Amino acid sequence: MEDKPIKVLLVEDNPGDARLIREMISEVRGALFDLKWADKLSTGLEQLAAGEVEVLLLDLLLPDSQGINTFARAHAQAPEIPIVVLTGLDDETLAVKAIREGAQDYLVKGQFDSNSLNRSIRHAIERKCAEKQIKASLREKEILLREIHHRVKNNLQIISSLLYLQSKHIKDAVALDMFRDSQNRIKSMALIHDKLYQFKDLGKIDIAEYIRALATDLFHSYGVEPDGVKLKIDVHEVLLGVDTALPWGLIINELVSNSLKHAFPDGKEGTIRIELLRSVNEHTFILIVSDTGIGFPKDFDFRNTGTLGLQLVITLVEQLNGTIELDRSRGTEFKITFAEPWC
Ligand SMILES: Nc1ncnc2c1ncn2[C@@H]1O[C@H](COP(=O)(O)OP(=O)(O)O)[C@@H](O)[C@H]1O
Ligand SMILES: [Mg+2]
Repeated sequence: MEDKPIKVLLVEDNPGDARLIREMISEVRGALFDLKWADKLSTGLEQLAAGEVEVLLLDLLLPDSQGINTFARAHAQAPEIPIVVLTGLDDETLAVKAIREGAQDYLVKGQFDSNSLNRSIRHAIERKCAEKQIKASLREKEILLREIHHRVKNNLQIISSLLYLQSKHIKDAVALDMFRDSQNRIKSMALIHDKLYQFKDLGKIDIAEYIRALATDLFHSYGVEPDGVKLKIDVHEVLLGVDTALPWGLIINELVSNSLKHAFPDGKEGTIRIELLRSVNEHTFILIVSDTGIGFPKDFDFRNTGTLGLQLVITLVEQLNGTIELDRSRGTEFKITFAEPWC
């Protein structure tokens, strides 16, 4: 026998059904229930607001509220309270909908007895309790994960800063260039963790936002005059997991860096464009990084330059099972096609 009675609120407009439930509840052996009754949702909500309820038995068809809306209003009033939905025989789909929206259980009128009512109430209380624990532990993990992304980002930023400080002692222009490239590669990875940390869904990155931030950083890093080289970004909102976002980030970093570094010598003006298109039918993404600059050297095979930047791009595209093409007809245009990562 339990020490304290469980406070149950029954919201049911049919006095016959209410009486029956009261009788069933009084027949339960081994448990005590303190049953209150409301015949309208509005009075039920008042009682919920008063906080004297531990579990709610809720009929969805009431004089002042019908259907799933009845559940939604009760749940909104007291999200902490477990709810058992009472439903007619032909309304089971509605009850299942209520479960999906957060009800703990349902009972079909005329098809339960004292034992199953007792079981359902106890099940609802325990399930709600377990749900709360799972939510709390999920929140804890989210905080932890955020913290980790934050630290990874900070550490990468520190490495990038160390490279910068070291590079101040370098006189050789080629070596200096290599240091700046390395710094930007690390920064492009740090930015992934920064975006992962900020985005509401921790495992995902809004690649559009990432591209904007990355390109702005690169323009800044190359000290581009705002009037000199223009940046155009046309990117759909695409959410990517970290496994895909990291190589994408590095690829974009290399291609945009190349446009900034090689396409516009001697203060030449022009535009760098980043586009991300989605071909729904073919389940592919098409990433285009182009510039209106001097063009890729004629005698160069971009797949065999023997230089780290494009080699990295080729390897990463291969890793993602993508393809890469170069169009030299107007400046330099790299077109990369990837299969949708979640297919
Ligand atoms: N957008 C571009 N416009 C003109 N030339 C380019 C462009 N991108 C790459 N290149 C040429 O390809 C070469 C190889 O690029 P990359 O492998 O990234 O090495 P790096 O940038 O260190 O020189 C560059 O040195 C440059 O000559
Ligand atoms: Mg390069």
